[in-house]
Amino acid sequence: MLTIDFNPDKQVFHLSNNVISYIMKVDQYNILTHIYFGKAITHYSGLGVYPRINRDFEVNFSENGLNNRTYSIGVIPQEYGDYGRGDFREPAIVIQHDDGAYVSDFRYRDYEVIEGVTGHNTMPAAYVADDSEAKTLIISMFDEVKNLELKLYYSIFEDKATLTRSAELINHSEQTVSIEKMMSYSMDLTAGDYDLVQLNGAWARERMLEREPIGRGIRKLDSKRGTSSHHQSPFMAVVAPETDEDHGDVLSVQLVYSGNFELTVEQDPYDNLRIQAGVQSLGFSWKLLANESFHTPEATLTYSAEGFNGMTQAQNDFIKDHIIPRRFKELERPILINNWEATYFDFSEEKIKSLVDQASDLGIELFVLDDGWFGRRDSDTSSLGDWFEHQDKLPHGLSELSDYVHKKGMQFGLWFEPEMISEDSELFRAHPDWALQLPDRNLSLGRDQFVLDFSREDVRENIFEQMVAILSNIPIDYVKWDMNRHMSEVYSLILPKEQAGEVAHRYMIGLYQFLSKLTQAFPEILFESCSGGGGRYDLGMMQYMPQVWTSDNTDPVERLKIQYGSSLMAPLNTMGAHVSASPNHQTGRDTSLKMRGDVASIGVFGYELDLNQLTESDRVEIKQQVEFYKRHRQLIQQGRFTRLISPFETNRCAWSVDLDDELLIFYYEILTHASKPLQKITLNHLDKDALYTVYTEDEEFEAYGDELMALGIIVNPVMQGDFQSRVYRLKKQKA
Ligand code: DGJ
Repeated sequence: MLTIDFNPDKQVFHLSNNVISYIMKVDQYNILTHIYFGKAITHYSGLGVYPRINRDFEVNFSENGLNNRTYSIGVIPQEYGDYGRGDFREPAIVIQHDDGAYVSDFRYRDYEVIEGVTGHNTMPAAYVADDSEAKTLIISMFDEVKNLELKLYYSIFEDKATLTRSAELINHSEQTVSIEKMMSYSMDLTAGDYDLVQLNGAWARERMLEREPIGRGIRKLDSKRGTSSHHQSPFMAVVAPETDEDHGDVLSVQLVYSGNFELTVEQDPYDNLRIQAGVQSLGFSWKLLANESFHTPEATLTYSAEGFNGMTQAQNDFIKDHIIPRRFKELERPILINNWEATYFDFSEEKIKSLVDQASDLGIELFVLDDGWFGRRDSDTSSLGDWFEHQDKLPHGLSELSDYVHKKGMQFGLWFEPEMISEDSELFRAHPDWALQLPDRNLSLGRDQFVLDFSREDVRENIFEQMVAILSNIPIDYVKWDMNRHMSEVYSLILPKEQAGEVAHRYMIGLYQFLSKLTQAFPEILFESCSGGGGRYDLGMMQYMPQVWTSDNTDPVERLKIQYGSSLMAPLNTMGAHVSASPNHQTGRDTSLKMRGDVASIGVFGYELDLNQLTESDRVEIKQQVEFYKRHRQLIQQGRFTRLISPFETNRCAWSVDLDDELLIFYYEILTHASKPLQKITLNHLDKDALYTVYTEDEEFEAYGDELMALGIIVNPVMQGDFQSRVYRLKKQKA
């Protein structure tokens, strides 16, 4: 079932499928009000309308000579609140009109329902393979005085608990207006207690989970860094206080956008909650000329009645079917070896080939040549922008190396950082104006590099041609697209100064155009997105690049939290996870190869260490890890992921993944203790009446689904030493 109904008597819109309902009502003043988003409702007769009450010091509507003291726009739950007429909460849209004023007044006019989705001209957005998979409601609102039309887009998808929203402003007037803020969506929930769940961090510490009760006032989670960033992910969840991993209401929000953003929650004095997400408004302003339109990025809204695991599973179903290109949905991700931590910039052809030899012998499937193969790139201070081969390092060239790798039965991958330019590069010497910069100010460096002005077509075209020259002449199966600094002096030398507030967003539009063109030109290449690790782990990038390098931090202990947090946003088959050397290069911590393998196995598995330094027993163990991953790859990459024990709350971590009649559990203990209490892992998603064979690393036994879910598995209490891990496998016996 997938319906979008409009009841003309009640003026109610009801979008629903088998799992969710979204309800809105046009009120007596043609304000579009929010009624409900939650589990599917079959019969809606009219509950939930906000009572009309006189609230002192709220502004009333006085229209047609009548003052209605019980109607205050500032307390009515709305779908997209505007600014300046007495709603004092955070507006969804702020426009400076031709008269200089900021007051807007958008009222409902009409609607349209279409099959499928509308797509987006310039941005990534949820797609459908067939129009029967979704329906879209387009609500049209008008500011009559200024002749501006605001279109609100709502798409609901077959059997998915996620819907998408975006907004478009169309200027039907003769005047130019300036958009100062325009959110992808806004929504008001009526009085209640809520917690806010968010993912923040830093480089090599991405997606740390934090939960706090929402109090009065405004709480903003944002990025002004030019990218979605390591520091704050474009994700938040508003949940009931009692919600846990498996129970309770969750409303999660993600942006299909990789640039500056803001996510806001505001609790008003009456405990209503306004939630918003969209492009960061600080530094943003968009000049909208007559007959032009501006369309925001898309936001996803997911509802789960089954806690955070329910949210994850719902989001993952949606991302796999409607965000990541379908050609990658079932595609098995190869096990890769990346030379970065093995060599950094200091490699030779001989050294690279010796890594390839070792990797192929161990059963690894893809060799990735990381940073340092181009221009005169011997350190991070030069050559970005010079995408031609570094002859000294690879005297026989990339083509010969690619052949060498292919002859070894492996795929070949290559690293690029297309959005950047080094001061010490041929490109910068020829085009110093191509970096983002102001004519009269110093240009700030980050990792010794500048950011190319990707809002410019000539800049993009140059880099595109350079990349195409490499990708079409050398057999390349995989590309790692990196981005290693955040943006400053965001200004474009060729854009009129009145449009300076558009540069950061125009950069993103340019980047998406580039990625769309490149991935269409090379549909067979598997792209992995990276920004100093997981600095752009967002649904915008995932539309072009189905894998993401989750973090530059490969320490398995730190990775538990990073991967746990990341799993709140996206499926395991997006999450690059590598076994690296011990002591770890980021933390100096020593851990066993087993712990490193067991953490990296729950993601897109790979290696990132000098295989020439392995002992014979390491080699045996790595071969076993590779075989294990290949045997269970389908289950891990396609299965249902469930978090069981949180490393944010305990000294342990556990998660499971299940598909058909098999379930894998990974259990990790961080620091050990003497006289340890017993640890139990209780399970989900088993068939209660079925008999399972349970394979632990120490024994094998049989148990029924219901007892396993009720009593759980006891972890071997004599497990000793810090940083331990265990893997359990459950196989359902045939009836
Ligand atoms: C940052 C990435 O996250 C690393 O994996 C590596 O590719 C370096 N950049 C190379 O400069």
